[in-house]
Amino acid sequence: MAILVCGGAGYIGSHAVYQLVKAGEEVVIIDNLQHGHRGAINPAAKFYQGDIRDAKILDQIFTENKIEAVIHFAAYIEAGESVEKPLKYFNNNVYGMQILLESMVRNGVDKIVFSSTAATYGEPEKFPIEENDRKQPINPYGESKLIMEKMMKWVSRANGVRFVSLRYFNAAGAVEDGSIGEDHHPETHLIPLILQVPLGKRDHITIFGEDYPTPDGTCLRDYIHVIDLADAHILALKYLREGGASNVFNLGNGQGFSVKEMIIAAEKVTGQKIKTEMGTRRAGDPAQLIASSDKARKILGWTPQFADVEKIISTAWTWHKNHPNGYGD
Ligand code: UFG
Repeated sequence: MAILVCGGAGYIGSHAVYQLVKAGEEVVIIDNLQHGHRGAINPAAKFYQGDIRDAKILDQIFTENKIEAVIHFAAYIEAGESVEKPLKYFNNNVYGMQILLESMVRNGVDKIVFSSTAATYGEPEKFPIEENDRKQPINPYGESKLIMEKMMKWVSRANGVRFVSLRYFNAAGAVEDGSIGEDHHPETHLIPLILQVPLGKRDHITIFGEDYPTPDGTCLRDYIHVIDLADAHILALKYLREGGASNVFNLGNGQGFSVKEMIIAAEKVTGQKIKTEMGTRRAGDPAQLIASSDKARKILGWTPQFADVEKIISTAWTWHKNHPNGYGD
């Protein structure tokens, strides 16, 4: 039996496939390559180029392969853009989830691991954030992911599709062998943008606001290594295989780093001074996001291996140094 990875050519999806293949799993990927990269597709996986909003290709995949479970990464992910283009997000993320769940139900596939986000919480009431805390997204991206979780909840009750939803905090880094990594067009994420300065691809990094209610005025985020995230998907799969009930888990290191602290850490890793400029706040950015991952640790037995932020940045640096133009597509 195989695992269908939707969005397996993307950043987190490709790392999950890497770990799945390493764990001896048979993997089938569907990716429309709009943001995913051909160069990120694991050669050990069977690849279908297609869109999850296309019921025909999903039914074809479920017919041609014995799919035991789905891991779903295929979604738009930019909080800032989602504020400008909410319908783009509801179409791909929410409608995409509907088509995927319909096809799973039609084809008798009853397990799904879902790529959710800290953005479902919005501005949190307390720290660290626990799974049952208030969820009031402040951007359509977070709202779309929350709706997707709710869709799975109702479908699990009505149609018996069990799910694990993994709410990632800030995914970062790359596999240590440097074979795959982060490459977004346009790039909006902090670490790759910071590293473009020592790479000579960017003159400076703009800090989006220093008037937040945080110790140094810049946003605090909980950076978690992409391989630790990938491993959580394998544990979630094991949990569902062992009959675990539908569940939701936060995934983070439980420690907040400010934008300024991340720049200093990147200077240490690269050994270069990184020029900064002060900008205004970016729409849709909460001041702080810091996870409690106690539940994932206890129930899934998850232990992040990359707790150190400089270590996380150094794996990203290995990738970007060796692939200054990403996958080059
Ligand atoms: N930032 C800057 N300058 C930049 C880019 C980012 O100051 O040029 C700041 C942002 O304002 C934010 C922090 O760096 O405070 C991190 O920004 P990212 O864009 O790297 O990440 P986000 O926190 O916005 O979002 C990421 C993912 C989402 C996910 C979220 C959950 O993109 O998919 O983490 O925490 F939902």
